[in-house]
Amino acid sequence: MDSSPPSRTCSRNIEELASNQSLQTGTALSVKDLNVSYFIGSKDLLPACRNVQFDTRVGESVGLLGESGAGKSTVAYAVMGLIEPPNKATGEIIYGGKNVLAMSQDELRSFRWNEVAMIFQAAMNSLDPIVTVGKNMDELVLDKGVVQNKQEARELSKKLLATVDLSEDVYKMYPFELSGGMKQRVIISMALATNPKILILDEPTTALDTITQFSVLSTIKSLKNEGRVGGLLLISHDISVQAFMVDRILIMLKGLVVEDAPIKTVMESAKHPYTQVLTEKLRLTLQKDRSQVHQLPQ
Ligand SMILES: Nc1ncnc2c1ncn2[C@@H]1O[C@H](COP(=O)(O)OP(=O)(O)OP(=O)(O)O)[C@@H](O)[C@H]1O
Ligand SMILES: [Mg+2]
Repeated sequence: MDSSPPSRTCSRNIEELASNQSLQTGTALSVKDLNVSYFIGSKDLLPACRNVQFDTRVGESVGLLGESGAGKSTVAYAVMGLIEPPNKATGEIIYGGKNVLAMSQDELRSFRWNEVAMIFQAAMNSLDPIVTVGKNMDELVLDKGVVQNKQEARELSKKLLATVDLSEDVYKMYPFELSGGMKQRVIISMALATNPKILILDEPTTALDTITQFSVLSTIKSLKNEGRVGGLLLISHDISVQAFMVDRILIMLKGLVVEDAPIKTVMESAKHPYTQVLTEKLRLTLQKDRSQVHQLPQ
């Protein structure tokens, strides 16, 4: 894989991504027999995910759902090549014919962001609070080599803010002046700077109220439809978020994938008892919401 810094312009990347997607319809990512264990002192290793196996197709939105501690973030960390000794990842994660788990540091640097980008859990708190949003963004796009100078960085950062429906004024604001939803939009726009082929979102809207959540998720969906990002790997423990966003869903329980099916199939007839409880609960909530809407004063 080419390890030189990307110097293509944002708009060319978008065109390229769109045309690549129409040409390619094959497998984007192939996870085979992935096992991850964390070193927890002396000689003990804690198995966090076991024999995880799944493929994603080019442009597909795949959900990863499961209770807290099920191993969802661990799978995402492994896909990004972020499991480092003394922790252990075995198996294969094939992207572009290469195994991520066997990539050199140079290959990983080029793979992360350019090919697969990740928005980490609680990332909206990771903006540097003592500089403006604009400076946070400019530094990132310069660091990733997406632009060559400060002037280009400023222009790209403002364009990126517009893609997530934020005004140019946000560029000059400090992170503490932004609402949670606005901060999350800034983070999403930053992850789009390199037009990644796959975007991993780890609980992107968990900290937000329902309406803001819906609006941020809708923005992500439109960005995907516009070809600004290829496929999605969406981690969320909320089945209503998954039902809104993904084509296919993987259900994780205690480190194992217990169900892998199109979201429609899972919503209509889940196989695993854990998933059956979740879908039934969602149905009941929707019924309750509907009856409450009828009772609202006109
Ligand atoms: N760096 C680490 N060192 C040791 N154990 C870890 C580490 N990271 C995660 N774990 C453990 O691995 C297991 C899976 O954690 P993981 O963060 O992948 O779960 P998750 O499904 O993302 O949960 P949540 O929904 O709470 O984010 C848990 O038992 C957790 O305590
Ligand atoms: Mg997690």
